[in-house]
Amino acid sequence: MKVAIVTGAAGGMGRAITDQLLTDGSQVVGVDIDGPALLTMAADRVGFTPEAVDLTDPEAIADLFDRVTARFGGVDALVNNAGTCFMSDFPDIPAEELTRQMEINFHSAFHCCQGAVKAMAGRDGVRKIVNISSNGAYNFDVFDPPHYRASKAAMDTLTKDLARRYARDKIAVNSIAPAMTETPLFNVLTEEVLARAISAMPHGVAMQPDQIAAWVRFLISAAGDVSSGNIIILNQGRDVR
Ligand SMILES: NC(=O)c1ccc[n+]([C@@H]2O[C@H](COP(=O)([O-])OP(=O)(O)OC[C@H]3O[C@@H](n4cnc5c(N)ncnc54)[C@H](O)[C@@H]3O)[C@@H](O)[C@H]2O)c1
Repeated sequence: MKVAIVTGAAGGMGRAITDQLLTDGSQVVGVDIDGPALLTMAADRVGFTPEAVDLTDPEAIADLFDRVTARFGGVDALVNNAGTCFMSDFPDIPAEELTRQMEINFHSAFHCCQGAVKAMAGRDGVRKIVNISSNGAYNFDVFDPPHYRASKAAMDTLTKDLARRYARDKIAVNSIAPAMTETPLFNVLTEEVLARAISAMPHGVAMQPDQIAAWVRFLISAAGDVSSGNIIILNQGRDVR
């Protein structure tokens, strides 16, 4: 039995990732700051453990990994999916907003990776870390503000560092970097910005969370054992030059 931790499990993408990993028979520990939403999810999902944790708190993350290891004996997969996009624009980004952006998107993933590599020691097979980055770290024509881009670029550098560092320990680390995907995160955008961004998608529509989740599922499956250190961009071919 595989044990997977999915952060941001109560959000649009996290819920889809959770459901696909449950379908494959994994035990899924769903972590989110939204405790009530996790409890609703737990009511109709077998193999799902809700964990209400604020991922900006490193001690709470360490406690989370201790609990999961005590209960399940270790961890086989971690999906760092929790995140948000603050929309103040340069140069008028308050210092506090920059700090929050990095804490929610990058520090949370960093601390979860620290917990995960320890909890993965001694487990069978190739263990997996999948970081949900963003196409915004690479495409400078779309709306993303610089602190959001930087938080995801930092995450992708962490992906490559850990992939290299843990290759011989059989921990595979990859990033999935999606473009416009229809989730509650769309609410941070004005209607005008949203419409422009969707019209720039080559298929003329936003992507759906289950389309992104399928790639996460693939990386966590046996087929994903041979991929590590890759940043996989999902955007319908929007930025091909
Ligand atoms: N939707 C898109 O178009 C898109 C594009 C590229 C990347 N992404 C990335 O995908 C990931 C998932 O986003 P989504 O689109 O599903 O958004 P979402 O808002 O639906 O989900 C994000 C989840 O993260 C949780 N979260 C936020 N702060 C937290 C904290 N401090 N502790 C614990 N949980 C916290 C939220 O409660 C929420 O459930 C994010 O990292 C986002 O940056 C999204």
